[in-house]
Amino acid sequence: MTSPDSTVSVERHGSTAVVLMHSQPVNCLNHALRTDLLATLEQVEHDSTITAVVLTGADRTFSAGADLTEFDRGEALLEPSLHLTITGTLDMMRTPVVAAIHGAALGGGLELALACHYRIATPDARLGLPEITLGLIPGAGGTQRLPRAVGFETALNLVLGGSTVTGTVAQGLGLVDEVVLGDLVDAAVRFVQRVALTAPPRLRDVEVRASEREGLIAFARRAAGRSRATRPGTGYALDALAATALPFDDGLATELRLFQSLCASTSAPAFRYRFLAERRAGRVKTAGSRVPNVATAAVIGGGTMGRGIALALLAAGISVVLVETDQDRADAAAAAVMAELKRRRLKPEQFRGEVGLRHIGDADLVIEAVFEDLAVKQAVFAEMDRHAKPGALLASNTSSLDLDAIAGVTGRPADVVGLHFFSPADVMRLVEIIEGAATSADTLARAARITRQLNKIGVVSGVGDGFIGNRVMDAYVRQAMILLSRGVPPDRVDAVLESWGMAMGPFRVLDLVGNDIPWQARQARGATGPEWWLADQLAIRGLLGRKSGAGWYRYPQRTLNPEVGDLIAEWCRDPAAISDDEIVQRCVYALVNEAAAVMQDGVARRASDIDVVFLNGYGFPAERGGPLHHADHIGLDRVIRAMRRFAWTPTPLLTEYARDGLSITTWEKATA
Ligand code: NAI
Repeated sequence: MTSPDSTVSVERHGSTAVVLMHSQPVNCLNHALRTDLLATLEQVEHDSTITAVVLTGADRTFSAGADLTEFDRGEALLEPSLHLTITGTLDMMRTPVVAAIHGAALGGGLELALACHYRIATPDARLGLPEITLGLIPGAGGTQRLPRAVGFETALNLVLGGSTVTGTVAQGLGLVDEVVLGDLVDAAVRFVQRVALTAPPRLRDVEVRASEREGLIAFARRAAGRSRATRPGTGYALDALAATALPFDDGLATELRLFQSLCASTSAPAFRYRFLAERRAGRVKTAGSRVPNVATAAVIGGGTMGRGIALALLAAGISVVLVETDQDRADAAAAAVMAELKRRRLKPEQFRGEVGLRHIGDADLVIEAVFEDLAVKQAVFAEMDRHAKPGALLASNTSSLDLDAIAGVTGRPADVVGLHFFSPADVMRLVEIIEGAATSADTLARAARITRQLNKIGVVSGVGDGFIGNRVMDAYVRQAMILLSRGVPPDRVDAVLESWGMAMGPFRVLDLVGNDIPWQARQARGATGPEWWLADQLAIRGLLGRKSGAGWYRYPQRTLNPEVGDLIAEWCRDPAAISDDEIVQRCVYALVNEAAAVMQDGVARRASDIDVVFLNGYGFPAERGGPLHHADHIGLDRVIRAMRRFAWTPTPLLTEYARDGLSITTWEKATA
């Protein structure tokens, strides 16, 4: 019935046709699958011996939705399109069609299922319309059919939240007709044969239950207008949902028009890029065998980071022993972790606090989070080597020290890796995975696996001062300091960068971190320069930021500290006229230039990894996709011209990519 290389095949079960999609790995609805699916549906429709149809995925999943790479190639809407042609064909099939859902029915995958007349699912199947998280909205009828299936309010929450529900929950919502425990295809065949004699129900014919539609939309619009975290597709999604008041086909046309205009915006490609970049970031080649999950862990050091790391591990179901130097500290750390576990209703049995490293012998993973002092860490690792079981992964949370010097004191440097969590460690998703000179491929793959187990995003970095994030960030903060030296007040720098989209301006961040911390780090590195004069002054004068009540700002009001104003007046007698654009360009292009240097030095494995770091660790605006995505968007030529205007030397990798007309985001280290 179908050609052997088709991505769709048909099995006959009596008079029922089981249509199987098998486009590896997750049945993305790319052009090939759409073409084969349409051809198959047309054949089935014309075969009068067929009285019912089951549509399902052949392997692990129903369909994870659109192929995002098609958007950038302009192929997403090529015919046969999902949005009108395939869903429209399913809608109007003469025989009933049941979607049998296992694995995922997400985005376009769920829209495909919604165009079927019935849906049955396994209890653990995942259904949802996550388009909003990718800077998009559903474009193949999702905003029109979902409210007809589950009611307006539930649909609105699912579309705006972009969240998924299980098959069991979906049944409760009316999104699926039956949940199946045994063989899905057998159950689907039995189900569809039972209903074969009744006319297929079509969601397009259902009236939307929407007595409160106007009120709900107005409420959601107000909430979206107030929140900084509002996603760019939200307004479009609300317009599309409002179009359920129109006749069905007009609603579909409105949804498509909104979808297309959102696709043409700059934020949608940035969101898609981020999604793909985050998926790529955690990918580390393994020797072959599957990397097992961690069951037990030890955390050494129960300070700010150790406590947060312990909570992150516990939240992922991993048993934790937290080790401190004496009983008082162990008790204080354990009490703090216990209180947080209680607040979150997590099991306390999996956690204990202890004194001394002799308690780490059972751990599959040991994470050190003691003081940032090489001698202290080396002493801890030497002792760790004596107590940790063979094969345990030994990790350091150092934020700046030389991992190789730490690994070198053990007899098993191949098992040592850096896991640089960001603070607060139980909240921030970013973890830099530091690959030392001796770190084995297996250790690196295990570290990557752990970050996934913790629901975090791991980005691999080589050893080097500040790794990726702090090194690149330093270049940005340095430009902010240079702006001060030219008479621009810190609150203006913050305001301009925040209105450009940064979650927090650099001076607010410094006040939060504490002005003594980077000052100490600069001194340790010998990184001094005239541009740091004012920052040094603040640290020396005890203007540490929030923790001392005053820094760049005065708290709690957060008004500019007049002392800072006086110091700037003393520092710069002849303030320069600097535009808002120049403030942004200096700071953001400093990120770009240093990011390129990090790539050129081989510290980062992929350009997109650096964007992932800035989006997840430093509050870079999501709608701009990260510093390097932003540079590509502006055009490398223009970015380089601005750098020359500022009398900087552009990193050679940037000039090379600009000369060859390449996107800098495509750069990958040869061995990545
Ligand atoms: P902290 O000073 O709050 O905590 C360190 C803890 O380690 C103390 O409770 C101390 O008693 C304990 N400790 C010291 N020697 C020990 C030993 N031999 N055995 C057991 N416990 C020992 O420090 P914090 O801020 O938690 O930092 C820890 C590490 O995490 C440092 O390497 C730091 O650079 C890194 N880091 C810190 C971040 C932050 O924002 N605070 C962010 C990322 C990394």
